[in-house]
Amino acid sequence: MKKIILIHGPNLNLLGERAKEHYGDVTLAKLEKIVTEEAEKLGVKIIAFQSNHEGGLIDFLQKNRKKADGIIINPGALAHYSYALHDALLDSQIPSVEVHLSDIGQREKWRRVSVTAPACKKIISGKKIEGYLEALHYLNKTQ
Ligand code: DQA
Repeated sequence: MKKIILIHGPNLNLLGERAKEHYGDVTLAKLEKIVTEEAEKLGVKIIAFQSNHEGGLIDFLQKNRKKADGIIINPGALAHYSYALHDALLDSQIPSVEVHLSDIGQREKWRRVSVTAPACKKIISGKKIEGYLEALHYLNKTQ
């Protein structure tokens, strides 16, 4: 059975409460449930994790990379400055897709650049939960 890591960075534990105009009103638990149910239909197992700490995300990737076939990551604001997370994604040696709920290209200048996306096969931005499902189908096909 294929396994895909679904990983969320800082502040995304507050989905459903924070900046709903950008991120919608779905909680992280609901989002993980929707992705997990879609994955089940494809025969894929989701390994979900969230941390507010850069090192926690990196530790998780290092520990789980050999057990997984792909990564769906929403790094939150770490996308804009974490070269360490970029390297951890590269070092995982499995394909990853970066997802943002909001369209980072249309927001503040500092949000428009992702330093983690170049370590990923693909970036999907601004499609809300649809973006995660697109990432899941993409990874399922590329494997
Ligand atoms: C986000 C966009 C980031 O700029 C922001 O810091 C987030 C959420 C998104 O899903 O649109 O925390 O990654």
